[in-house]
Order: sequence, then structure tokens, then C-alpha cells
Amino acid sequence: MSTLDGRKALVTGSASGIGRAVAKHLGELGAEVIMSDLPGDQLDAAAEEVERSSVIAANLAVAAEVDNLSTRAGRVDILVNNAGLQHVSPIETFPAERWDTIIAVMLTAPFLLTKALVPGMYETGWGRIINIASVHALVASPFKVAYVSAKHGLLGMTRTIALEAAEHSQDVTAHAICPSYVSTALVEHQIEEQAKVHQIDRERVVEDVLLEHNAIKRLIAPEEIAAAVEWLCGPLAWTMTGAALTMDAGWLAH
Ligand SMILES: NC(=O)c1ccc[n+]([C@@H]2O[C@H](COP(=O)([O-])OP(=O)(O)OC[C@H]3O[C@@H](n4cnc5c(N)ncnc54)[C@H](O)[C@@H]3O)[C@@H](O)[C@H]2O)c1
Repeated sequence: MSTLDGRKALVTGSASGIGRAVAKHLGELGAEVIMSDLPGDQLDAAAEEVERSSVIAANLAVAAEVDNLSTRAGRVDILVNNAGLQHVSPIETFPAERWDTIIAVMLTAPFLLTKALVPGMYETGWGRIINIASVHALVASPFKVAYVSAKHGLLGMTRTIALEAAEHSQDVTAHAICPSYVSTALVEHQIEEQAKVHQIDRERVVEDVLLEHNAIKRLIAPEEIAAAVEWLCGPLAWTMTGAALTMDAGWLAH
């Protein structure tokens, strides 16, 4: 018997990167996994890799689609709010519509999904809300105003949920995982852009730009984040509810 037999998980943004690795790992641990992302072949292909998975496509920038997702998902024991996107620009030229989309996908959608699904966790007395935040929930970088604001907000939301959930059950927890750079499509895109802007090769972008603040100069693998999610689904997660789990290779140790 696997550790998550009988549990149902919903992982947003699971067509790619961290979400895909988390969904796969939760499936390996025995959970039934609902995979959600924008509709397309990539989501269907990702779901084929995951045991006991089903697919509910949704554009999380649209509140009605988020509501439809939670309704169709039904009871969920493990909610992983992971979907995200980035836009890099100085604030004075940052497009307001990109701000709206990033806040909708990375802050409003986790709020709406939690609002809809946490009552079921209170009823059963067991639940895990795991928000994939970022080191940018705790520290800022220039030119990422929407992303940094959404992630700081997500951490505040995580702490609030943890306090409220503790009143209902000692086994409904909320956590934020706060990684530094992870090797995914989202980061690959930034590497390409930075290489063009600074006219340097990709290895130098990784070493001099992305890993500038890391004590350990290494990108994190998505599977390493999935391993942390496993721990947060385990019996000791209550000991640190409301936590920002920094997986930052020493960024914040400075
Ligand atoms: N890669 C990193 O370095 C890093 C570091 C810290 C935190 N994170 C966070 O991890 C999460 C996953 O990022 P990733 O690196 O795996 O990126 P990724 O681009 O590989 O995956 C993000 C997924 O979110 C989905 N998504 C984007 N907009 C959506 C929308 N409107 N509706 C539904 N789905 C949507 C994308 O389609 C994609 O599949 C994000 O929240 C990101 O902020 C990433």
C-alpha cells in the first residue's frame, strides 16, 4: 500500500515543469490525480504519464473557469496551487493586462480554489493545501513586479489559511514552497531572453544572472520540489503549518 492511497489531489499547471513532476510523484504514491492546465496536447500527454489521473482543462485567468474546475473536481484532499507565468519589464512600461493575468492566475485562482475545496477538507478532517510560491514570496527582484506581488500575496494567503484551518482540524495544513530557480520551461524562456538582452551565452546567464544569489550554484530539478510535496503530505506536516519552505540553495542565507 502506498502512502497516499485513497487520497485525491488536484494539481494546477500540471502540463509542464514543477506541476507535471508533482502530479507524477503523487500518482506514484497512490493518489488519484486531477491534472489541470490550459487545454492542449501537452496536458493530455502529461496525464498519460500519471497513474490514476484525469484531466480538467481550465484557464485560471478566468474566474468562471476556476469555479467550473472546483465544481467538477468535487472532494479534493490535496490541492497544489502551482500554475504560473512570468513577465519581465520595468514598472513604468509593465502592461496592466499582464499584471491582471498574473494576479488572476497566481493569487486569485488559488484563493477561489481554496475557498471552494477547503470545506471538504474540514469535513473529512484531513487536507493539504500546498502553494508553489517562490523565493520571490520573501524577497524582490527588479522588473518582476506582478510576479513578486503575487508570490508575496500567496504566502500571506497561505499563513491565513493555516491559522483558519487549525481551528477546524489538526490535520488540515497549508504551506508555501519557496524555491529559487528550477529548471523548467518558465526559466528556459527567461534564459533565452536574458542571453539576447545581455548578448551572452546561456551558461553565463545561468551562472551570473539566475544563480547570482544562490550559495549553492545549481538549478533545482522539478522532481526535488515533488519530493518536498511528498513530505508535506505526510504526518509531520502539521509541525510547520503556515510555513514558507525555502528551497533556495542558500539565497536567503545572506
Ligand atoms: N521555475 C522556477 O525557477 C520557479 C521558481 C520558483 C517558483 N516557481 C513557480 O512554480 C510554478 C510552476 O512553474 P514552472 O517553472 O513549472 O513553469 P512552467 O511554465 O513549466 O509551468 C507552468 C504551467 O502553468 C500553466 N499556466 C500558465 N497560465 C495558465 C492559465 N492561465 N491557466 C492555467 N494554467 C496556466 C502553464 O500552461 C504551464 O503548464 C509557478 O507558480 C512558478 O511561479 C518556479
